[in-house]
Amino acid sequence: MRLAGRRILLIISGGIAAYKALELIRAIRAEGGAVTPVLTRAAQQFITPLSAAALAESRALVDLFDLTDEAEMGHIRLSRASDLLLVCPASADILARMAAGLADDLATTLLLATDKPVMVAPAMNVRMWDHPATRANVATLKARGVHVIEPATGPMACGEHGPGRLPDVPLLVEALVAHFGAKTGPLAGRHAIVTAGPTHEPIDPVRYIANRSSGKQGFAMAAALAALGARVTLVAGPVALATPPGVVRHDVTTAQEMAAAVEAALPADLAVMVAAVADWRVERAPAKIKKGPGGPPELKLVENPDILAQVAAPGARRPRLVVGFAAETEEVVAHAVAKLGRKGCDLVVANDVSGDVMGGDRNLVHLVSVDGVETFPEGTKEEVAARLARRFAEWLHG
Ligand code: CTP
Repeated sequence: MRLAGRRILLIISGGIAAYKALELIRAIRAEGGAVTPVLTRAAQQFITPLSAAALAESRALVDLFDLTDEAEMGHIRLSRASDLLLVCPASADILARMAAGLADDLATTLLLATDKPVMVAPAMNVRMWDHPATRANVATLKARGVHVIEPATGPMACGEHGPGRLPDVPLLVEALVAHFGAKTGPLAGRHAIVTAGPTHEPIDPVRYIANRSSGKQGFAMAAALAALGARVTLVAGPVALATPPGVVRHDVTTAQEMAAAVEAALPADLAVMVAAVADWRVERAPAKIKKGPGGPPELKLVENPDILAQVAAPGARRPRLVVGFAAETEEVVAHAVAKLGRKGCDLVVANDVSGDVMGGDRNLVHLVSVDGVETFPEGTKEEVAARLARRFAEWLHG
């Protein structure tokens, strides 16, 4: 069951290989994965929504303008509720429409609206595959991070021979398993939510309040938890960092958006709140504030939701382990101990940010629990994250 718990939105486009998508649905289900099929209009010339739905044991979706669907489950929700969008088979036409950013049917709208990883398995006539237009479209999609399963070479339905065949279903399944990573390690089967980076709180349409957080410690934390086998959801404020391998990332800007993304990612086994969330937002002006004879404007600050305290609050959805970070410039440990009680979390990672920790590459932290304080040796943010991840795994097993 190597795809257990994985939710795949399978977009089936038109082509003679569409029948293999039915086999693929069966194979994904056999590995424990869930499939929501989406058929383009052209796909329905080759297979029926009914057969896809029967094999998936899920409704097959076909039309953007089906108002009931839009009311019940909008396309944004549909892509949020999956871990991966797989276009299989991907015709030359859908590749071109994806590359152009069209959204003129349900399939392309989902592909344009999603923040989830996208994989395509192209299948077409060899000349279409080799055509400069298709080559350019595939290059564009790859550059945007779309994972392309290269077509196989062999005899084709059209009588020609060459690359363009959809790989056999077992190979497609292997590509999916490889994408999700064979998760092993002490956190295998656990879901971790990590917040990282600063938040930006708009003052007016052009200005915002921010802080110096680079997101490095949070991203290192997400990578370390994934390396121990956890399924990691990383909720990131505005930072310029690459997503660590095997981590699912949601980008947000404000504290309120971060709170909503964390809520949407629950349930989880552990939550590690590394983000430097702005404590206050500004009552936002609808238009740019202008200088004037009246002197500087007064900014009215409103308290933001405390995401850590909300996640740590007792309830059925509380993760078993909730970890907060405390950035302090003085009395580091004393403040961390106070924070433990105030926020209701299990552990607090206290770091002294009086030096150049914020934005820097190294960190010195103390891990504070009700049982006491453990001071880690100073190290890179990756070393600190790896050590913390091991401690969290021990805590969950203990
Ligand atoms: N945090 C959060 N949501 C907020 C504020 C903080 O989730 N709105 C989390 C941070 O991610 C971090 C911890 O809470 O894990 C930091 O707590 P906070 O009280 O904000 O820390 P400081 O601002 O450092 O504390 P203080 O106000 O006591 O200086």
